[in-house]
Amino acid sequence: MEPPSGPASRRHVPWSRLLLAVSLLTFRTPPTSAQLTVETVPRLAAEGSDVLLLAHNVSKNPLGYGWYRGERVDSPQLIASYRVDTNATTNGAVYSGRETLYPNGTLLIRNVTQRDTGPYTLLVTKNDLQTERQTGHLHVHPVLPTPVITSNNSNPREHEDTVVLTCGSETQNTSYMWWINSQSLPKGTRLELSKDKRTLTVVTVTRNDTGPYVCEARNPVSVSRSDPFTLDVLSPVAKPSLQASNATVTEHEGPVVLTCLADETGVSIRWFFKGQSLLLAERMTLSSDNSTLTIDPVSRENTGDYQCEAFNRGNSSRSDPLRLHVTWRETSRALSVGAITGIVIGVLLVLILLAVVGRLIFLHRGNWPPASTSGRGPSGSSVS
Ligand SMILES: *[C@@H]1O[C@H](CO)[C@@H](O)[C@H](O)[C@H]1NC(C)=O
Ligand SMILES: *[C@@H]1O[C@H](CO)[C@@H](O)[C@H](O)[C@H]1NC(C)=O
Ligand SMILES: *[C@@H]1O[C@H](CO)[C@@H](O)[C@H](O)[C@H]1NC(C)=O
Ligand SMILES: *[C@@H]1O[C@H](CO)[C@@H](O)[C@H](O)[C@H]1NC(C)=O
Ligand SMILES: *[C@@H]1O[C@H](CO)[C@@H](O)[C@H](O)[C@H]1NC(C)=O
Ligand SMILES: *[C@@H]1O[C@H](CO)[C@@H](O)[C@H](O)[C@H]1NC(C)=O
Ligand SMILES: *[C@@H]1O[C@H](CO)[C@@H](O)[C@H](O)[C@H]1NC(C)=O
Ligand SMILES: *[C@@H]1O[C@H](CO)[C@@H](O)[C@H](O)[C@H]1NC(C)=O
Ligand SMILES: *[C@@H]1O[C@H](CO)[C@@H](O)[C@H](O)[C@H]1NC(C)=O
Ligand SMILES: *[C@@H]1O[C@H](CO)[C@@H](O)[C@H](O)[C@H]1NC(C)=O
Repeated sequence: MEPPSGPASRRHVPWSRLLLAVSLLTFRTPPTSAQLTVETVPRLAAEGSDVLLLAHNVSKNPLGYGWYRGERVDSPQLIASYRVDTNATTNGAVYSGRETLYPNGTLLIRNVTQRDTGPYTLLVTKNDLQTERQTGHLHVHPVLPTPVITSNNSNPREHEDTVVLTCGSETQNTSYMWWINSQSLPKGTRLELSKDKRTLTVVTVTRNDTGPYVCEARNPVSVSRSDPFTLDVLSPVAKPSLQASNATVTEHEGPVVLTCLADETGVSIRWFFKGQSLLLAERMTLSSDNSTLTIDPVSRENTGDYQCEAFNRGNSSRSDPLRLHVTWRETSRALSVGAITGIVIGVLLVLILLAVVGRLIFLHRGNWPPASTSGRGPSGSSVS
């Protein structure tokens, strides 16, 4: 249905100029019976959509049309003109490539942007060379992107910090709504909305203000809702308590289990031994949540003060020290060591004794008869 466009203007005076000249000549012509009107369809145009500027009540058998950007008929502002007798469209100075002028005077603008917002004027040249004109308005609204909630403090401290949550970036003619935990905002003085409702202030946050928060941005052509946003409120950590399965145990006798009781979720636990970060020895194991420490078997080096500490990113709290006593049977062990030593010494003594005795016997045999006697060998042999 697009009318053929062609360089009709080359043949004669440019059509647009002719139209303009005519319009200047007939500027004061009063409107005739049926009033020319321009209707924008859709009335609320979303960015990226196609918009028609419909010409209604166009006079019968006009000579041509011209569409201008702005409220005036101004040649440098010509978008396109159309000549009925030749079906020729001539593009003007502000033609963007997205406009189509139909034979009935209607202008189509494709893929509109906010820059297309403004008045558009249609000039109709009637068959009596008189003109009439009408201005229509196009208002292109942005399609709102999904808003993102931002906070001016990502880790507010409970009972201390005031947090400002903002819904998306600033856009004009946008209205906002908020929900907390899928509920509309509760009445109260701790929640303050800005005049345009884009920002929500949470005064002196508590752990109950975690959310999640959702906001919605709405303009004449679109509605868009944010993803849930959770406020990470840092709360003071309560002091944990530390318990032992048995605080006084005997070395090598079974396991000792130390349990750290922290009454909050969302806290982590770490351990201290004699005031120092606990180094896990071979015989020690931590439960997966680090809340219990098992020492199996327990040895005398494990004697000392234990503490556990509950912490989150903003706060921590350490338990009172718990003293673990590992006793060992000094005497029995000493005795057994003594016995072993005694046996070893005894065996060694016996061995030494045997060796000495053996040596003595050997010497006795090897040196018998004494050297002085053997010196007298021949006589000895004579003896044997
Ligand atoms: C066309 O003009 C007539 C007479 O002025 C008017 O009643 C009618 O509403 C107009 N139509 C449109 C679509 O503007
Ligand atoms: C203009 O278009 C109409 C129909 O769209 C056609 O009947 C007419 O012959 C065309 N005129 C010229 C000069 O091409
Ligand atoms: C003019 O023509 C276009 C394209 O065919 C059509 O969409 C539009 O409705 C017409 N205008 C009027 C006022 O009928
Ligand atoms: C519409 O215009 C935008 C720029 O304003 C462009 O990025 C996009 O590709 C265009 N879409 C179509 C369908 O032409
Ligand atoms: C956030 O804004 C509130 C209110 O303006 C202010 O009191 C607070 O200090 C701000 N927080 C940060 C981290 O800037
Ligand atoms: C916002 O709305 C007002 C009144 O409807 C209008 O004058 C203004 O141009 C609009 N602004 C934008 C950016 O859409
Ligand atoms: C949080 O809410 C619970 C239950 O509604 C309430 O018992 C508690 O006192 C609140 N805590 C704070 C810090 O407001
Ligand atoms: C603690 O351990 C000691 C020695 O291992 C044992 O005698 C005592 O009965 C244990 N106490 C408890 C309460 O289990
Ligand atoms: C337990 O503690 C170790 C360090 O000792 C740490 O790497 C680990 O993340 C902790 N686990 C938990 C669940 O907190
Ligand atoms: C934990 O929070 C409490 C109360 O806000 C504060 O007194 C304490 O100093 C904090 N402890 C640490 C280690 O930040």
